[in-house]
Formats: sequence, structure tokens, C-alpha cells
Amino acid sequence: MKLDVAFSPRELTASEVADRTVIVIDVLRATTTICAALDRGARAVVPAVDTEDATRLEEVLGPADVVLAGERNSVRIPGFKLGNSPSEMTSDVVQGKTLVMTTTNGTQALLGTAGARDVFVAAAVNLSVAGAAARAALEEHGDLLILCAGRDHGFGFDDAFIAGCLAERALGGRRRRKGLNDAALVAVDLVIRYRDRIERALALSRAGRELTARGFRNDVTAAAQVDAHPVLPVFRDKRITLAQHGARS
Ligand code: MLT
Repeated sequence: MKLDVAFSPRELTASEVADRTVIVIDVLRATTTICAALDRGARAVVPAVDTEDATRLEEVLGPADVVLAGERNSVRIPGFKLGNSPSEMTSDVVQGKTLVMTTTNGTQALLGTAGARDVFVAAAVNLSVAGAAARAALEEHGDLLILCAGRDHGFGFDDAFIAGCLAERALGGRRRRKGLNDAALVAVDLVIRYRDRIERALALSRAGRELTARGFRNDVTAAAQVDAHPVLPVFRDKRITLAQHGARS
């Protein structure tokens, strides 16, 4: 059994991702927002590298069905309809639409998973469903990689904490530590320290403090709502959609 956590995409080479099940976390806020969008009826979310790539994809996919979403420095990109707040993902805006999204860390982490066998999207808002997928992958393949988007190519406490929550679920609550890499050991220990104080842990992180300072404190609260969006987003063929079976708990 091999359960790895990577605290940042920078820690990984392509061969460390190849043919593995990867679960990507950017709890503040990209993966939380993706779960909210798909739960509220978006058809798909297409990650884009940057603003230019997003507008190019909008043209290719047909502007009528596409909504541009994304942030830089947490703030909506000029000309885009949506930013990166889960609260913006209302049914009247996203229902039946394809969101083309570019964010500072989250969508970059997703785009770095080329070559993986399966890629799922996780946050606190889909913790039970993502945890079940993590456990199934570990049981079926004996291997799992939990990839944190992190902050500015480095460690992010918020993502590391949720990685620990996910690792715990993947282990089915067993106390077994054999097969965990050092980052996974640390992530699981973080959960022991903060346990159900999820909002506290997210608010303490650098991402949480920056979002609060920029006027997005409500997004930190929204991101801490465990199982608020019980969906399993899967990233395949360049788009994120709901997994066909067991998409909702
Ligand atoms: C990211 O991808 O870096 C984020 O989700 C940042 C944010 O929304 O503030």
C-alpha cells in the first residue's frame, strides 16, 4: 500500500503522476468552487492555463454555452463573468453551462496531472464522497496520490489539512501508518490536532488570512462546510464533470 501526499505540484515529476489515481485539493478556493459549480448544475469545468488560454477556449467551445471564471490575487479577472467564490456558483448562472476557469494555483495543479490514471477533485465540501473514492482507489490499486495545489508553488496549511482528512478516510479510520510518505504522515497528524475545527484551520492558513483581508471571509466559512456539495468531480479529457456513478452520496 502506498499513500502519498504532495504539498505542492512542484514536488512532483511527470513519472510520479503517471498511471496513478490523483486527488487534487485547493480548498481555498478552486476545488471548493468547482464542486459548488457542478453541484449547482454546471455541465463541465474546463481548466485554463491563463486569461489568454481561457478566452481562446471560450471561442473554441462556443461563447453561448461558456462562462468565464477565475481570479488573480483572489479578485475576478477583468472581463470575466465570475470570480472564484463558491457563492457565485448559483444555478441561474451556471446551470447547463461550461465554465472555463483559470486560477492562480488550483487549475494549474489540475493541469499538471497529465498521464494520471484517474483524477478527482476534492475539498471539504465533498469530503465524504471524495474520501470514498480515495478509499476505493487504495483498495483497488494499492496506491493513491493526494496532490495539494498549495500556495505560490509551496506549502499551504489549508490544503495540507484537508489532505490529512482525505488520507484518514482513504485508510478507513485505521491507524496504520505503513506505506504513507512523510507528507502524508504530517497531514494525518494535522487532523489529529485540529479534528473538527475545520474552519479554524482554514482561517489560520495564509490563504485564509489573505482571503479574509481581501474581503472574502465568507468564502472561508463556505469552504469549511463538510459535505455541503456531495459530488465527485472527475477530470478527464481536459474537462471536469461529475463522475457517472456514485456522483452524489
Ligand atoms: C487558487 O487557485 O490559487 C485559488 O483558488 C486562489 C483564490 O481563489 O484566491
